[in-house]
Order: sequence, then structure tokens, then C-alpha cells
Amino acid sequence: MAFLEASMVNKIYHDKKKQEIVALSNFTLSVEEREFITIIGPSGCGKSSFLFLAAGLEPLTSGVLKFNGKPVKGPDPLSAMVFQEYLLFPWKTVRENIEFGPELRHVSKKQRRESSCNLIKMVGLGGFENRYPNELSGGMQQRVSIARALANKPQLILMDEPFGALDALTRETLQIELLKIWQQAKCTVLFVTHSIPEAVYLADRVVVVSKRPGTIKEIVDIDLPRPREREMFTSPSFIEYERYLKNLILEEI
Ligand SMILES: Nc1ncnc2c1ncn2[C@@H]1O[C@H](COP(=O)(O)OP(=O)(O)O)[C@@H](O)[C@H]1O
Ligand SMILES: [Mg+2]
Repeated sequence: MAFLEASMVNKIYHDKKKQEIVALSNFTLSVEEREFITIIGPSGCGKSSFLFLAAGLEPLTSGVLKFNGKPVKGPDPLSAMVFQEYLLFPWKTVRENIEFGPELRHVSKKQRRESSCNLIKMVGLGGFENRYPNELSGGMQQRVSIARALANKPQLILMDEPFGALDALTRETLQIELLKIWQQAKCTVLFVTHSIPEAVYLADRVVVVSKRPGTIKEIVDIDLPRPREREMFTSPSFIEYERYLKNLILEEI
């Protein structure tokens, strides 16, 4: 049994005129524990929808979606979502944002503090614990969002174009750090991106979604050694993966 199992999942929305919008159609995907999956596909193909369903934030229309062997019925404390917009509480400091989830779960103050200290180190925010979000760069705010997601010790992290709004250098740094965090936290990641190199660099497998209604077009195993070095970007096999995935996407637009 897979860790996250989507079988023939359909998602239909209704627009204001009550017209059906089929976002996902027969979407079938099995994710194993500790895998790093990236998801690419044309704009509007249902990538975010799939993450929302997996997070239990939206109901599916039909099909089966199981997490840890149980049907997803609503938000699960063992999964966490990270968005492109950082969605931090502006009136809370870095530390307070990170400790918010554990506080809701009545984790003791001492434990909260210990865990937030570790997370702040892990995401490279040492020295910024008492700053407010508007005092931080976009990259730093996204680090806080990642730490906040990790604070609930999720087994599954769903990331929706988390680095999409960042400049190229910050993005590169965060990619490298995310891989380290993923290895340290021993979690499973589903990561949606528009960037093909990012998809290849991070993933064990890249899921290519067709144009809407989104269905799995192809799943590509990325057979590159870990830890992933940046020099990889210019290696023949990396470039070949990129070329191959780009062609798959071009067929959909
Ligand atoms: N809440 C909603 N109500 C109506 N339509 C929606 C809603 N969310 C998404 N859609 C539609 O579903 C389709 C898939 O959207 P989305 O999952 O956001 O795609 P992607 O993330 O791949 O760009 C799009 O046509 C979008 O307009
Ligand atoms: Mg989206």
C-alpha cells in the first residue's frame, strides 16, 4: 500500500454560471514514503487542485484518495501545505509564526521553544527570531513558511510553486536547502513547479500532468545521484531530462 494513493480521482468545480469545470480526470498516482515528487504541467491543468485534495482542503468529486491507508476526509495534522504566497501572520514574529501550530496543539512552551530553535537553525534564520514578516525578504519569509509547516512534524509536505515569486539566486539557495531539510526531516514532498530544471533537480520522480482536465501524462524517474550537486545542471543526463520533459509539456500547450 502506498503512502499517498490517488486512484481515478476526479475533481469538478462549478463556476458562477453553474458550468462544470473538470479540473482533474482519472488522476492516478502512488507516492511512497520519503519520496520527493515534483509535478509539472500547463497552467490551469489542476496541479494546485491536486495538492488541495491531498491536503484535505477540498473534497474530491469521485475516485479514491488515501493518505496513510485512510481516505482523505479533511485536513490531516500529518500533512502541511506551503504556498507561493507566504501567508504568515504579520503581527507575529518569526518565532511566534513557527510556534503557532504547536501552540494550537497545546505543546508545552518549553518543547515549542526547543523545536522552533531547531527549525530556525534548519532553515537558516538564526538571529531573525524576533523579526516580523514585513522586516524580511521574500526568501526569508518563505523560509519561515517552511519552518512553520515543519513545526507540526508533518509526514507529507505539499508545496505549491513555493519558490515561484523568488529571484533566481534565492531560489537556487532554497532548492539546495529544501533538499537538506527533506533528508533531515525524513518527510515526503509533493512539489508543484513551473520550472523544468527545478523539477529535475529536486525530484525522485517528475509527474507530468496533461492540459485540463488534468490527468497523468507521464511519470519520469530521475536517475541522478544524491546529494544533488549544482554542477549537475550542465551534465548531459540532466540536460537530456530537461529536453525530454520540455517536449512533453510542449505537446500540451
Ligand atoms: N475554486 C474553484 N472554483 C472554480 N474553478 C476552479 C477553482 N479552483 C480551480 N478552478 C479551475 O480548475 C482548473 C484547475 O485549476 P488549478 O488546479 O489551479 O490549476 P494549476 O494549479 O495547474 O494552474 C482551472 O481551470 C481553474 O480555473
Ligand atoms: Mg496552481
